[in-house]
Amino acid sequence: METVYLDNAATSFPKPPQVLRQMTRYLEEVGATVNRSVYGPAQAAGMVELRLRQRLCQLFHFTPMTHAVLTPGNTWGLNLVLSGFLRPGDHCVVSSMEHNAVMRPLQSLAKQGVTFTRVPCDAVGRLEPKDVENALQPDTRLVVLSHGSNVSGTVQDAAAVGEICYRHRIPFCLDGAQTAGHIPVDFSALGLSALSVPGHKGLLGPSGMGALLLDPAFAARLTPTISGGTGSASDSEEIPSYMPDRFEPGTPNVPGIYGLEAALQYLEWTGVEAIAAHDRDLTARFLDGVRSIPSVTLVGPDTLEDRVGVVSLDFPGRDNAEVAEALEREFGILTRCGLHCAPSAHKTLGTFPRGTIRFSWGWFSTESDIDRALEAVRSV
Ligand code: ALA
Repeated sequence: METVYLDNAATSFPKPPQVLRQMTRYLEEVGATVNRSVYGPAQAAGMVELRLRQRLCQLFHFTPMTHAVLTPGNTWGLNLVLSGFLRPGDHCVVSSMEHNAVMRPLQSLAKQGVTFTRVPCDAVGRLEPKDVENALQPDTRLVVLSHGSNVSGTVQDAAAVGEICYRHRIPFCLDGAQTAGHIPVDFSALGLSALSVPGHKGLLGPSGMGALLLDPAFAARLTPTISGGTGSASDSEEIPSYMPDRFEPGTPNVPGIYGLEAALQYLEWTGVEAIAAHDRDLTARFLDGVRSIPSVTLVGPDTLEDRVGVVSLDFPGRDNAEVAEALEREFGILTRCGLHCAPSAHKTLGTFPRGTIRFSWGWFSTESDIDRALEAVRSV
């Protein structure tokens, strides 16, 4: 039986063929690391790394390129922002829809004297921006927000939150895990101080890669959380103060750099607007189909506004894990069930602790994939 991959919120699959080709080419023909040696292949690899930074800047309307930090993933970037910035006595504001990539580092910091307010979202996971303003305190030093929910697909009004943060001179960090590459994300229009993104979801690159874009004034206030060799300022035992070296110690994931660079080139050819339109069409088809199946409950927004193609379903009276297993065994439909590393989001949506079955499509998903999933949901 042919399977239907509907777990793109966890990681996108398949990847564009040029991603595989470039990673293979690097491993077979280049091999050298970046920013260290100066022979030909090392310089060639350095140029690919530079092009990756340029493409990140173009995609997210960001400057300067020196502040597009390459990370081993979104969790790493979010940890750097939280642990590199907050100090005992500082207060942070988050929404109730955050993933554990934010909540776990924040809970660790809370043990060291950082406090935080979790602004409640409504029953479909929507944040009222005004509530963020009401949660600000004199000691609030940071606002962190999940742009799109990995449970319900709910997309927040980040521009409104950015405007509030700007007025109050509070840095604003956006977690773009489920929106980068899915919908346009404009760093400056959203009033961001930091944008952390994974490379392996909507950006269609390999896992083990991500990026953290930092406003220069904010970057200057961040302390590195790890240190080591950078291939620069080798006469010193201190990590350099300049960017991006300050936050990029150690040999990076060069195959990942080649893969993500190729993926971003593919995204440029395709256009994020076209990807967003395809995502909307498939979401409309899935939501329409689900409305006619009385045995399942849609969790999250039932409209197409301000959402991405991540949809959670609950099968009342059934064990969702057993249903997800049957979806794969009997129908070849691959989903993710449970709490999706986001207990706070599930509490907000009223699905804690039983969780949901999550269906998430991507650029390579088709209408027939959606129809097969709907048929399976109807019959399971
Ligand atoms: N955060 C990813 C997910 O939602 C891994 O599945």
